[in-house]
Amino acid sequence: MTPHRVIKYESIMASLRRSMSSATKTSLRPKLTRSIVLVGLMGAGKSCVGRRLAQRLDAPFIDADQEIEAASGYTIADFFEQFGEEAFRDGERKVMRRLLDGPPSVLATGGGAYVNEETRALIESQALSLWLKADLDILIKRTIGRKHRPLLNQGDPKATLRRLMDDRYPVYAQAALTIPTGDEPLERSVERAMSLLAPYLSAPEPCEPVD
Ligand code: S3P
Repeated sequence: MTPHRVIKYESIMASLRRSMSSATKTSLRPKLTRSIVLVGLMGAGKSCVGRRLAQRLDAPFIDADQEIEAASGYTIADFFEQFGEEAFRDGERKVMRRLLDGPPSVLATGGGAYVNEETRALIESQALSLWLKADLDILIKRTIGRKHRPLLNQGDPKATLRRLMDDRYPVYAQAALTIPTGDEPLERSVERAMSLLAPYLSAPEPCEPVD
């Protein structure tokens, strides 16, 4: 081969190697076409499961309570103290509407959001709801000693949670999907959620080549 041809041959081989390595870096992942909204009582694990689920789905994770705090400039506890629960529910409804109008995400809601009729209707029409159903003992274990939830900061938190279970579980039961979240590793709950969600995810698409 003449030197000119050697150079040309090497540049063709280099380009081939580059495109082959792009192909091997190409992976398949399911695509989220609408938001997945996690509902359930305080301590059910909506934020923890949601964050891991979002990673698995390669989708953004949004925590509705954090969005309310960012929008209002108050922590949830301060907001309750300053303006009361009714004003909080009002703000929560507005923030939920904005989030649901946005691009698909995995969205962890505050425990009361789905109980609101308007928000629930919005979730059911625009997203896929997933109830994280936990027993009282688990909820108590996960919320005890934590001070950022105003509803549990007064009276007997165990009695409050029991009352909220009675009031809200029939409402959460309207969610499209339900997983039990017991005393099990987080990853197990994420697996349960992934199996239930599988039929709702669109066919995997190759990612963009990384090269
Ligand atoms: C609430 C649950 C909280 C928070 C607020 C009220 C409720 O969120 O929105 O304290 O009514 O159950 P988490 O469920 O994320 O703790």
